[in-house]
Amino acid sequence: MPLRPCKVGWSTEGGSITYPIRRDVIHMLRYAPIEDDKTKADLIRLNRIAEERGWRQAILEVYRTSSGMMRYVLDPSRSRFLDILPLSKDKTVLEVGSGLGQITTALAVRAGMVEAIEVVSGQAIFTHRRCQQEGLENVRVVCGGDDSRLPYSSAQFDVAILNLVLEWCFRREATVSPAESQERLLRETARVLKPGGLLYLCTKNRYSIRLLLGGRDEHVGGLRFGSALPRWMVGLISRIRGTAGLSGYIHSYQGVDQMLRRCGFEERRSYWAAPEMRYPAWFIPARASDIARARRHPGFMACDGKRSRWLMERVPAPLVKNLTPGLIFLARKRCPVGMGIRG
Ligand SMILES: C[S@@+](CC[C@H](N)C(=O)[O-])C[C@H]1O[C@@H](n2cnc3c(N)ncnc32)[C@H](O)[C@@H]1O
Repeated sequence: MPLRPCKVGWSTEGGSITYPIRRDVIHMLRYAPIEDDKTKADLIRLNRIAEERGWRQAILEVYRTSSGMMRYVLDPSRSRFLDILPLSKDKTVLEVGSGLGQITTALAVRAGMVEAIEVVSGQAIFTHRRCQQEGLENVRVVCGGDDSRLPYSSAQFDVAILNLVLEWCFRREATVSPAESQERLLRETARVLKPGGLLYLCTKNRYSIRLLLGGRDEHVGGLRFGSALPRWMVGLISRIRGTAGLSGYIHSYQGVDQMLRRCGFEERRSYWAAPEMRYPAWFIPARASDIARARRHPGFMACDGKRSRWLMERVPAPLVKNLTPGLIFLARKRCPVGMGIRG
Protein backbone atom coordinates (compact mmCIF):
# COMPACT_ATOMS: atom_id res chain seq x y z
CA MET A 1 0.00 0.00 0.00
CA PRO A 2 2.04 3.05 -1.17
CA LEU A 3 1.70 6.04 1.15
CA ARG A 4 2.24 9.73 0.64
CA PRO A 5 2.34 12.56 3.18
CA CYS A 6 -0.80 14.67 3.49
CA LYS A 7 -1.99 17.49 5.73
CA VAL A 8 -3.10 15.34 8.65
CA GLY A 9 -0.51 12.59 8.35
CA TRP A 10 -0.16 10.09 5.54
CA SER A 11 -2.65 8.89 2.99
CA THR A 12 -2.95 6.07 0.48
CA GLU A 13 -2.07 6.76 -3.15
CA GLY A 14 -5.67 7.56 -4.09
CA GLY A 15 -6.07 9.70 -0.98
CA SER A 16 -9.10 7.67 0.14
CA ILE A 17 -7.83 6.90 3.64
CA THR A 18 -5.76 9.18 5.80
CA TYR A 19 -3.71 7.96 8.69
CA PRO A 20 -2.85 10.13 11.67
CA ILE A 21 0.67 10.56 12.98
CA ARG A 22 0.96 10.48 16.76
CA ARG A 23 4.32 11.21 18.35
CA ASP A 24 6.02 10.71 14.98
CA VAL A 25 4.45 7.27 14.44
CA ILE A 26 1.94 6.64 11.62
CA HIS A 27 -1.18 4.97 13.00
CA MET A 28 -2.87 2.62 10.54
CA LEU A 29 -5.35 0.90 12.84
CA ARG A 30 -8.67 -0.35 11.60
CA TYR A 31 -10.31 -1.26 14.91
CA ALA A 32 -10.62 0.38 18.31
CA PRO A 33 -7.89 -0.53 20.81
CA ILE A 34 -8.63 -3.38 23.22
CA GLU A 35 -6.08 -2.62 25.96
CA ASP A 36 -7.47 -2.28 29.48
CA ASP A 37 -7.27 1.01 31.38
CA LYS A 38 -4.26 -0.05 33.48
CA THR A 39 -2.24 -1.00 30.40
CA LYS A 40 -3.17 2.27 28.69
CA ALA A 41 -2.25 4.31 31.77
CA ASP A 42 1.09 2.47 32.15
CA LEU A 43 1.95 3.15 28.53
CA ILE A 44 1.08 6.84 28.78
CA ARG A 45 3.32 7.11 31.84
CA LEU A 46 6.04 5.05 30.18
CA ASN A 47 6.15 7.36 27.17
CA ARG A 48 6.04 10.50 29.29
CA ILE A 49 9.01 9.39 31.41
CA ALA A 50 10.85 8.18 28.30
CA GLU A 51 10.48 11.64 26.80
CA GLU A 52 11.69 13.35 29.98
CA ARG A 53 14.35 11.01 31.34
CA GLY A 54 15.02 8.35 28.74
CA TRP A 55 13.52 4.99 27.78
CA ARG A 56 15.52 2.87 30.24
CA GLN A 57 14.52 5.00 33.21
CA ALA A 58 10.91 4.76 32.05
CA ILE A 59 11.02 0.94 32.12
CA LEU A 60 12.71 0.93 35.53
CA GLU A 61 10.07 3.22 37.01
CA VAL A 62 6.89 1.88 35.42
CA TYR A 63 7.68 -1.84 35.75
CA ARG A 64 9.49 -1.51 39.09
CA THR A 65 7.21 -4.05 40.73
CA SER A 66 7.17 -6.52 37.84
CA SER A 67 10.51 -8.29 37.61
CA GLY A 68 9.07 -10.52 34.86
CA MET A 69 8.20 -7.57 32.63
CA MET A 70 11.51 -5.84 33.37
CA ARG A 71 13.43 -8.94 32.30
CA TYR A 72 11.25 -9.38 29.23
CA VAL A 73 12.13 -5.97 27.87
CA LEU A 74 15.71 -5.57 29.10
CA ASP A 75 17.40 -8.98 29.07
CA PRO A 76 19.81 -9.15 26.09
CA SER A 77 19.28 -12.93 25.78
CA ARG A 78 15.82 -12.09 24.39
CA SER A 79 17.38 -11.31 21.04
CA ARG A 80 19.78 -14.27 20.92
CA PHE A 81 17.78 -15.82 18.06
CA LEU A 82 19.16 -13.11 15.77
CA ASP A 83 22.39 -15.17 15.70
CA ILE A 84 20.75 -17.79 13.49
CA LEU A 85 19.50 -15.24 10.93
CA PRO A 86 21.48 -14.05 7.90
CA LEU A 87 21.58 -10.38 8.92
CA SER A 88 23.90 -7.77 7.46
CA LYS A 89 23.89 -4.11 6.57
CA ASP A 90 22.51 -4.79 3.08
CA LYS A 91 19.40 -6.54 4.43
CA THR A 92 15.95 -5.01 4.92
CA VAL A 93 14.06 -6.63 7.77
CA LEU A 94 10.43 -6.58 8.88
CA GLU A 95 9.61 -7.11 12.53
CA VAL A 96 5.95 -7.79 13.26
CA GLY A 97 4.85 -7.17 16.85
CA SER A 98 7.81 -5.19 18.13
CA GLY A 99 6.37 -4.71 21.63
CA LEU A 100 8.53 -2.22 23.53
CA GLY A 101 11.42 -2.53 21.08
CA GLN A 102 13.24 -5.24 23.03
CA ILE A 103 14.29 -7.02 19.83
CA THR A 104 14.13 -4.02 17.49
CA THR A 105 17.20 -2.24 18.84
CA ALA A 106 19.44 -5.33 18.64
CA LEU A 107 18.06 -6.02 15.16
CA ALA A 108 18.75 -2.49 13.92
CA VAL A 109 22.41 -2.80 14.90
CA ARG A 110 22.77 -5.83 12.59
CA ALA A 111 20.45 -4.95 9.67
CA GLY A 112 20.46 -2.25 7.02
CA MET A 113 16.86 -1.12 7.44
CA VAL A 114 14.21 -2.26 9.91
CA GLU A 115 10.47 -1.74 9.50
CA ALA A 116 8.67 -2.50 12.75
CA ILE A 117 4.91 -2.81 13.05
CA GLU A 118 3.14 -2.94 16.40
CA VAL A 119 -0.58 -2.99 17.04
CA VAL A 120 -0.55 -1.23 20.43
CA SER A 121 -0.11 2.50 19.95
CA GLY A 122 1.73 3.22 23.22
CA GLN A 123 4.18 0.38 22.51
CA ALA A 124 4.81 1.51 18.94
CA ILE A 125 5.53 5.04 20.16
CA PHE A 126 7.85 3.71 22.86
CA THR A 127 9.74 1.54 20.34
CA HIS A 128 10.17 4.57 18.10
CA ARG A 129 11.50 6.66 21.00
CA ARG A 130 13.76 3.85 22.28
CA CYS A 131 15.37 3.51 18.83
CA GLN A 132 15.72 7.26 18.48
CA GLN A 133 17.39 7.58 21.87
CA GLU A 134 19.76 4.74 20.95
CA GLY A 135 20.74 6.69 17.82
CA LEU A 136 19.29 4.05 15.49
CA GLU A 137 18.19 5.93 12.41
CA ASN A 138 17.51 2.86 10.28
CA VAL A 139 14.23 1.96 12.01
CA ARG A 140 10.72 3.00 11.02
CA VAL A 141 7.89 2.10 13.34
CA VAL A 142 4.27 1.93 12.26
CA CYS A 143 1.28 1.28 14.51
CA GLY A 144 -0.98 -1.19 12.71
CA GLY A 145 -1.59 -4.84 11.92
CA ASP A 146 -4.90 -5.15 13.78
CA ASP A 147 -6.51 -6.66 10.66
CA SER A 148 -3.49 -8.94 10.13
CA ARG A 149 -2.57 -7.02 6.99
CA LEU A 150 0.80 -5.43 6.42
CA PRO A 151 1.02 -1.90 5.00
CA TYR A 152 4.04 -2.59 2.80
CA SER A 153 4.44 -3.21 -0.89
CA SER A 154 5.19 -6.72 -2.11
CA ALA A 155 8.62 -8.37 -2.24
CA GLN A 156 10.58 -5.75 -0.31
CA PHE A 157 12.05 -7.61 2.68
CA ASP A 158 14.94 -10.04 2.93
CA VAL A 159 13.94 -11.29 6.37
CA ALA A 160 10.74 -11.15 8.44
CA ILE A 161 10.51 -11.81 12.16
CA LEU A 162 7.41 -12.89 14.09
CA ASN A 163 8.62 -13.59 17.58
CA LEU A 164 5.78 -14.65 19.90
CA VAL A 165 3.22 -12.70 17.90
CA LEU A 166 1.21 -15.26 15.93
CA GLU A 167 -0.60 -16.50 19.05
CA TRP A 168 -1.91 -12.97 19.71
CA CYS A 169 -2.59 -11.58 16.28
CA PHE A 170 -6.31 -12.28 15.87
CA ARG A 171 -7.60 -10.57 18.97
CA ARG A 172 -9.07 -7.46 17.39
CA GLU A 173 -11.01 -9.02 14.52
CA ALA A 174 -14.33 -10.19 15.88
CA THR A 175 -15.71 -11.33 12.51
CA VAL A 176 -12.78 -13.50 11.46
CA SER A 177 -11.76 -16.82 13.01
CA PRO A 178 -8.38 -16.88 14.81
CA ALA A 179 -7.03 -19.41 12.33
CA GLU A 180 -8.04 -17.23 9.36
CA SER A 181 -6.48 -14.20 10.94
CA GLN A 182 -3.22 -16.04 11.64
CA GLU A 183 -3.08 -17.41 8.10
CA ARG A 184 -3.71 -13.98 6.68
CA LEU A 185 -0.80 -12.57 8.65
CA LEU A 186 1.48 -15.36 7.40
CA ARG A 187 0.31 -14.90 3.79
CA GLU A 188 0.88 -11.18 4.13
CA THR A 189 4.36 -11.87 5.46
CA ALA A 190 5.05 -14.10 2.47
CA ARG A 191 3.76 -11.39 0.15
CA VAL A 192 6.09 -8.68 1.49
CA LEU A 193 9.14 -10.99 1.52
CA LYS A 194 11.32 -11.13 -1.57
CA PRO A 195 11.24 -14.51 -3.33
CA GLY A 196 13.57 -16.71 -1.32
CA GLY A 197 13.32 -14.32 1.66
CA LEU A 198 13.40 -15.84 5.15
CA LEU A 199 10.80 -15.91 7.88
CA TYR A 200 11.78 -16.46 11.51
CA LEU A 201 8.70 -17.64 13.38
CA CYS A 202 8.54 -18.44 17.07
CA THR A 203 5.23 -19.26 18.70
CA LYS A 204 4.14 -21.07 21.86
CA ASN A 205 3.65 -24.83 21.58
CA ARG A 206 0.21 -26.18 22.38
CA TYR A 207 1.78 -29.51 23.36
CA SER A 208 4.88 -28.33 25.20
CA ILE A 209 5.97 -30.69 27.91
CA ARG A 210 5.21 -28.09 30.57
CA LEU A 211 1.59 -27.74 29.43
CA LEU A 212 1.15 -31.50 29.03
CA LEU A 213 2.29 -31.88 32.65
CA GLY A 214 -0.49 -29.53 33.76
CA GLY A 215 1.34 -26.20 33.69
CA ARG A 216 -0.98 -23.22 33.57
CA ASP A 217 -0.94 -20.85 30.63
CA GLU A 218 -2.68 -17.59 29.81
CA HIS A 219 -3.56 -18.84 26.33
CA VAL A 220 -5.94 -21.42 27.77
CA GLY A 221 -7.30 -19.26 30.56
CA GLY A 222 -4.98 -20.81 33.15
CA LEU A 223 -6.79 -24.14 32.86
CA ARG A 224 -4.60 -27.15 33.73
CA PHE A 225 -4.24 -29.48 30.72
CA GLY A 226 -6.37 -26.96 28.82
CA SER A 227 -4.10 -26.90 25.79
CA ALA A 228 -4.60 -30.63 25.26
CA LEU A 229 -8.40 -30.24 25.18
CA PRO A 230 -10.41 -29.27 22.10
CA ARG A 231 -10.66 -25.48 22.03
CA TRP A 232 -14.48 -25.46 22.18
CA MET A 233 -14.23 -27.42 25.46
CA VAL A 234 -11.84 -24.88 26.98
CA GLY A 235 -14.34 -22.17 26.02
CA LEU A 236 -17.21 -24.10 27.59
CA ILE A 237 -15.35 -24.92 30.84
CA SER A 238 -14.21 -21.30 31.18
CA ARG A 239 -17.77 -20.04 30.69
CA ILE A 240 -19.09 -22.46 33.33
CA ARG A 241 -16.34 -21.50 35.77
CA GLY A 242 -16.62 -17.82 34.92
CA THR A 243 -12.90 -17.59 34.17
CA ALA A 244 -11.03 -16.14 31.22
CA GLY A 245 -11.28 -18.42 28.19
CA LEU A 246 -8.87 -18.71 25.29
CA SER A 247 -6.84 -15.55 25.06
CA GLY A 248 -4.60 -16.68 22.27
CA TYR A 249 -4.47 -19.42 19.70
CA ILE A 250 -1.61 -21.86 19.95
CA HIS A 251 -0.79 -24.82 17.73
CA SER A 252 1.11 -28.08 17.59
CA TYR A 253 4.36 -28.55 15.67
CA GLN A 254 2.48 -30.14 12.75
CA GLY A 255 -0.16 -27.41 12.87
CA VAL A 256 2.39 -24.64 12.45
CA ASP A 257 4.38 -26.56 9.85
CA GLN A 258 1.27 -27.14 7.71
CA MET A 259 0.11 -23.56 8.12
CA LEU A 260 3.49 -22.31 6.90
CA ARG A 261 3.32 -24.60 3.89
CA ARG A 262 -0.19 -23.41 3.02
CA CYS A 263 0.92 -19.78 3.32
CA GLY A 264 3.75 -20.08 0.81
CA PHE A 265 6.83 -21.13 2.79
CA GLU A 266 9.18 -23.94 1.88
CA GLU A 267 12.44 -25.32 3.31
CA ARG A 268 11.02 -25.16 6.78
CA ARG A 269 13.73 -25.87 9.36
CA SER A 270 12.85 -26.08 13.02
CA TYR A 271 14.90 -25.27 16.13
CA TRP A 272 14.83 -26.04 19.79
CA ALA A 273 15.46 -22.98 21.96
CA ALA A 274 16.59 -24.33 25.35
CA PRO A 275 15.78 -24.01 28.14
CA GLU A 276 12.97 -21.71 26.98
CA MET A 277 12.29 -19.65 23.85
CA ARG A 278 12.00 -16.29 25.62
CA TYR A 279 15.41 -16.55 27.31
CA PRO A 280 17.31 -19.07 25.23
CA ALA A 281 20.84 -20.14 26.03
CA TRP A 282 21.02 -22.63 23.12
CA PHE A 283 19.51 -22.74 19.64
CA ILE A 284 19.68 -26.30 18.42
CA PRO A 285 18.53 -27.44 14.97
CA ALA A 286 15.76 -29.92 15.82
CA ARG A 287 17.57 -32.86 14.18
CA ALA A 288 18.36 -36.00 16.15
CA SER A 289 22.16 -35.67 15.70
CA ASP A 290 22.23 -32.01 16.85
CA ILE A 291 19.98 -32.77 19.80
CA ALA A 292 22.16 -35.69 20.89
CA ARG A 293 25.27 -33.46 20.66
CA ALA A 294 23.61 -30.66 22.67
CA ARG A 295 22.55 -33.07 25.38
CA ARG A 296 26.15 -34.20 25.87
CA HIS A 297 27.29 -30.62 26.38
CA PRO A 298 28.25 -29.95 30.03
CA GLY A 299 25.82 -27.50 31.57
CA PHE A 300 23.14 -28.00 28.92
CA MET A 301 19.75 -27.22 30.38
CA ALA A 302 16.93 -28.85 28.45
CA CYS A 303 14.00 -27.08 30.06
CA ASP A 304 12.91 -24.90 32.97
CA GLY A 305 11.19 -26.69 35.84
CA LYS A 306 12.39 -29.87 37.52
CA ARG A 307 9.85 -32.35 36.16
CA SER A 308 9.80 -30.91 32.65
CA ARG A 309 13.61 -30.95 32.55
CA TRP A 310 13.84 -34.56 33.73
CA LEU A 311 11.45 -35.64 30.99
CA MET A 312 12.89 -33.41 28.28
CA GLU A 313 16.31 -34.93 28.87
CA ARG A 314 14.84 -38.37 28.15
CA VAL A 315 12.45 -37.74 25.27
CA PRO A 316 13.70 -39.57 22.16
CA ALA A 317 15.48 -37.00 20.00
CA PRO A 318 13.11 -37.28 16.97
CA LEU A 319 10.16 -36.37 19.23
CA VAL A 320 11.77 -33.36 20.91
CA LYS A 321 10.52 -30.84 18.34
CA ASN A 322 6.91 -31.71 19.24
CA LEU A 323 7.36 -30.96 22.94
CA THR A 324 9.55 -27.86 23.14
CA PRO A 325 8.09 -24.77 24.89
CA GLY A 326 8.33 -22.75 21.69
CA LEU A 327 7.89 -23.83 18.08
CA ILE A 328 10.62 -22.17 16.08
CA PHE A 329 10.81 -22.25 12.30
CA LEU A 330 13.12 -20.71 9.80
CA ALA A 331 11.22 -20.89 6.51
CA ARG A 332 11.90 -19.63 3.02
CA LYS A 333 9.32 -17.91 0.87
CA ARG A 334 8.55 -20.19 -2.01
CA CYS A 335 10.11 -19.03 -5.26
CA PRO A 336 8.01 -18.87 -8.42
CA VAL A 337 8.71 -21.88 -10.67
CA GLY A 338 11.92 -21.40 -12.63
CA MET A 339 13.32 -18.79 -10.27
CA GLY A 340 16.38 -19.80 -8.26
CA ILE A 341 16.64 -19.40 -4.49
CA ARG A 342 18.70 -16.39 -3.47
CA GLY A 343 21.55 -16.97 -1.01
C1 LIG B 1 4.24 -11.37 23.28
S1 LIG B 1 4.62 -9.86 22.55
C2 LIG B 1 6.20 -10.18 21.76
C3 LIG B 1 6.96 -8.91 21.52
C4 LIG B 1 8.30 -9.09 20.82
N1 LIG B 1 8.13 -9.64 19.49
C5 LIG B 1 9.19 -9.99 21.63
O1 LIG B 1 9.56 -11.06 21.16
O2 LIG B 1 9.52 -9.64 22.76
C6 LIG B 1 3.53 -9.81 21.15
C7 LIG B 1 3.46 -8.42 20.52
O3 LIG B 1 2.83 -8.50 19.26
C8 LIG B 1 1.91 -7.44 19.13
N2 LIG B 1 0.92 -7.86 18.12
C9 LIG B 1 -0.04 -8.78 18.25
N3 LIG B 1 -0.73 -8.92 17.11
C10 LIG B 1 -0.18 -8.06 16.21
C11 LIG B 1 -0.46 -7.73 14.84
N4 LIG B 1 -1.44 -8.32 14.18
N5 LIG B 1 0.31 -6.80 14.25
C12 LIG B 1 1.30 -6.19 14.92
N6 LIG B 1 1.60 -6.45 16.22
C13 LIG B 1 0.88 -7.38 16.86
C14 LIG B 1 1.38 -7.28 20.54
O4 LIG B 1 0.77 -6.03 20.73
C15 LIG B 1 2.64 -7.46 21.36
O5 LIG B 1 3.35 -6.27 21.51
